[in-house]
Amino acid sequence: MKVVAPSLFSPDIQEQVAKIVAQYERKQAAIIPLLNLAQEQFGYVTPEAEKFVAEYLEVPIVQVREVVSFYTLLRPSPPGKCRIAVCTTTGCALRGADKALEYAKKKLGIKPGETTPDGRFTLESVECLGACEFGPVAQVNDTYMGYLSEQTLDRIFQNVGPDREDWCAEAPVVETPTGEPLISRFFHMKESHKLDTYLQHRGFEAVKKTLGKMNPDDVIDTVKKSNLRGLGGAGFSVGMKWSFVPKETSKPKYLVVNADEGEPGTFKDKYILVKAPHLLIEGMILASYAVGIHKAYLYIRKEYQFPYERLKAAVDEAYAKGYLGKNILGTGFDLDIVIHRGAGAYICGEESALLESLEGKKGLPRLRPPFPAIVGLFGCPTVINNVETLSYLPFIFDRGYEWFAGLGSPKNGGMKLYCVSGRVEQPGVYELPMGTSLRDIIFQYAGGIAEGRKLKAVIPGGISANILTAGEIDVKMDFDSLKAAGTMLGSSGVMVLDDSVCMVKALSYATKFFAHESCGQCSPCREGTGWIHKIVTRILQGKGKPADLDNLLDIAAFMGGNTICAFGDAAAMPVTSYIKKFRAEFEYHIQHKKCDIENADANG
Ligand SMILES: Cc1cc2nc3c(=O)[nH]c(=O)nc-3n(C[C@H](O)[C@H](O)[C@H](O)COP(=O)(O)O)c2cc1C
Repeated sequence: MKVVAPSLFSPDIQEQVAKIVAQYERKQAAIIPLLNLAQEQFGYVTPEAEKFVAEYLEVPIVQVREVVSFYTLLRPSPPGKCRIAVCTTTGCALRGADKALEYAKKKLGIKPGETTPDGRFTLESVECLGACEFGPVAQVNDTYMGYLSEQTLDRIFQNVGPDREDWCAEAPVVETPTGEPLISRFFHMKESHKLDTYLQHRGFEAVKKTLGKMNPDDVIDTVKKSNLRGLGGAGFSVGMKWSFVPKETSKPKYLVVNADEGEPGTFKDKYILVKAPHLLIEGMILASYAVGIHKAYLYIRKEYQFPYERLKAAVDEAYAKGYLGKNILGTGFDLDIVIHRGAGAYICGEESALLESLEGKKGLPRLRPPFPAIVGLFGCPTVINNVETLSYLPFIFDRGYEWFAGLGSPKNGGMKLYCVSGRVEQPGVYELPMGTSLRDIIFQYAGGIAEGRKLKAVIPGGISANILTAGEIDVKMDFDSLKAAGTMLGSSGVMVLDDSVCMVKALSYATKFFAHESCGQCSPCREGTGWIHKIVTRILQGKGKPADLDNLLDIAAFMGGNTICAFGDAAAMPVTSYIKKFRAEFEYHIQHKKCDIENADANG
């Protein structure tokens, strides 16, 4: 391949460029990796870098520019030396993110989106960073810092923190309180990310029992019988999804692993990437063997720097010791893994947007059918699974599908990593049998409501799920039970709201998120999320009008079901459920132009 602008990168980086491009079937897919690389080198995506990428990959420059403008973490201008991105989505907002941001604004004398005149600090207000259990959280350059307070922020301003110790993946994970921990057994284990440790804990036993010993069709059948459901949000039967991929095809087939983990309230996959990367790799091998796949792409959100480093080291180690690549463990089966980093866009967690992004484009969801099982990555049959989903596979093949199915509730097999955040005593990840009651998760395992307050409401499955009132928590946390209760398990991001929380404000965190993250492709969603956020903000500011609530419900009703992907429904659901269940609170705001909840709280 010709090198168009050899002077742009140093010779060793130029070598990296060539290696990156060689990983992809279509070189255009290297657009985001090369832009990320350029940004690492120069601090931002320079016009020269855009030109280089366009020429090197032989794509029009406009295509490179539209990618740069779509992704929030690709910067067309240089930021300050230290970029402080405070998460202000629900999980962090419930634990004081607004206060932390106000303090940062005051101390730095700038607003979010600005850089101090000396160029030392850039301040940003960003959407969920996937670390709600440490809320409020900020990303400080590549590192995370949790439990933000005036003291922790001062450490950043004095340039003494954070360091790697602060990365929000080491604690406060809680091991399975009852029963046997499966995935979470690795969470508090020393050196659990190393292959040797993994091998000491039955690592790769499932691969040894399966590859070359079981027929791929039987592998799919076993997964069907295990009742393993897709744990990224949709809860579709995993074995069933695999069986849709054509067996005989002249095209290559791909496995795509979804490690985008952007759903607010969700932070489980991060622990697997950091603490149990070989478990995920083993799951990827099993899935690939079942479907006849020899190439897997793992799409990881850009914010997850430390998880990326851990995963990369694990993949390198697995290759070096014969657990990846050609003829894995002498079984004759080959699998290559490419790790692909995103560039900051929640929508890229949606599987078809993720495929577009992997192909080097803006993350705009695709119309279906055709489904990815038939026409997926690079137009080829593709299986897309979430990190947690794949990480349960080794247990199923090591111990048997009956055992796994028996752990959960009917048709919802196994265990589940529940993420609990918001106003509880012990936010964290709890691995419990699928179908554990929501009441038990909050009161028995997560220590109940913080500061002895009363439970008001719970979002059971990430920000997109319909909210439940305190009287609705005697429900099993599995896909079917929550659906029957009018909400969803989604990504199992349980966000707890206590009686000090104003529901108008709580809804405004969600509407801000959706207005920011809509990809803009479908008019009902692009316009609807913007208008909804404007109206909710107006009510919050005491400027609401009597017709506002019905208008909000109308806009939400028009969005639901009228968009290419499920984002539109997800953005509509909180609006409808908050207003229906807490209408009096919204009406009070409109009528009295103030909040009775926060006033009552302030007056003791
Ligand atoms: C707006 C939107 C965002 C999503 N974000 C994620 C995500 O961050 N991670 C994930 O695994 N699945 C996410 N999903 C679900 C994926 O589209 C897809 O169903 C999933 O990756 C399939 O894997 P599974 O069957 O193992 O769950 C999202 C879906 C939608 C509609």
